[in-house]
Amino acid sequence: MVSIGNVTIASPLVLAPMSGISDLPFRQINRSFGCGLAFTEMISSSSLVHKSKHTLKMLSAGMDDRPLGVQILGGDPDIIKRALDITSEYSFDIVDFNAACPASKVVSKGKGAWLLREPLKFQKLLKVIVENAGVPVTVKIRSGWDETSINAVEMALRAQDAGVSGLFIHGRTRSQGYSGKVAYPIIKKVKDSLQIPVIASGDALTPYLVKKLLDDSGCNGAAIARGALGNPWIFRETDEYLKGRTVPFSPDVYEITRTMKEHLNLNVTFYGEKSGVLQFRKFFGWYARGMAAKGLKGRAFRAGTRAEMLGLIDELQTLAANAGYGGETI
Ligand SMILES: Cc1cc2nc3c(=O)[nH]c(=O)nc-3n(C[C@H](O)[C@H](O)[C@H](O)COP(=O)(O)O)c2cc1C
Repeated sequence: MVSIGNVTIASPLVLAPMSGISDLPFRQINRSFGCGLAFTEMISSSSLVHKSKHTLKMLSAGMDDRPLGVQILGGDPDIIKRALDITSEYSFDIVDFNAACPASKVVSKGKGAWLLREPLKFQKLLKVIVENAGVPVTVKIRSGWDETSINAVEMALRAQDAGVSGLFIHGRTRSQGYSGKVAYPIIKKVKDSLQIPVIASGDALTPYLVKKLLDDSGCNGAAIARGALGNPWIFRETDEYLKGRTVPFSPDVYEITRTMKEHLNLNVTFYGEKSGVLQFRKFFGWYARGMAAKGLKGRAFRAGTRAEMLGLIDELQTLAANAGYGGETI
């Protein structure tokens, strides 16, 4: 069990925030397979202040979607304070601050991973957030800006001094983006330097790799991102693997298609049919990964109605069952 401030997390396996992906339906599907904590996608504090319909939709949560953190992005303390006034009207358990996003359009505005270059500003912003969030605060950092400026330990200590209750570290630099090797020793150094819980992130793509991330870093938990795309079973499989089960515990094709339908239906309920189906298109491809269903994936990208998408899921089931698809292994 991990505690972040007064928030107790039953499983050390966290669903990492992913922009454009971590909406309510995606989180609900992953929760159903055992994820212990989830986050909204990152939400810009200035967009929050403008209260656009699109941004407010990102704050949606459900009763079955707890504990839940809201991740905010920003570089201006006054705007961040105003954004926190808005998030505090919702019942989030945690506020997470993003100091890790590598995107050029973000860092060029002095936000996200840019803050790794400004330790004093980073610490000052975190103090403002801790004072105004009303709930425990966590922060997400990377190992550094680039390989010549690895400063994760300094940043982590500054975050702890500012009063954050937990820290997430993606063991890559900003210049690595999402490629290259994850620096397990740097994550470990950060973990060893702090008293607050540290959650590791980076290449948590299979149960084996999640265990390696936990073992090599000594962290209190692991955040799963790309490994959960079209694969919510990673939470159940990893939980079993951490308990010592070594035989594969993968879903069969019927469980996969049943989950796809559930995900599609949640999307339609949340967004309405047109947008829900549109948002589901990419997930079809991820769920069907490894199933030799190229033609179907192309058709899924053109599907416009729930009935059309359900028909494609049924076709996928027949195709995969006939091909003897047996799922992935550990
Ligand atoms: C499509 C995508 C969107 C992401 N969006 C966010 C985000 O909004 N906030 C954040 O802190 N990290 C974001 N990340 C980073 C992930 O949370 C995670 O730290 C990173 O992908 C490393 O984990 P992995 O190698 O297991 O995928 C994103 C990653 C991906 C692939």
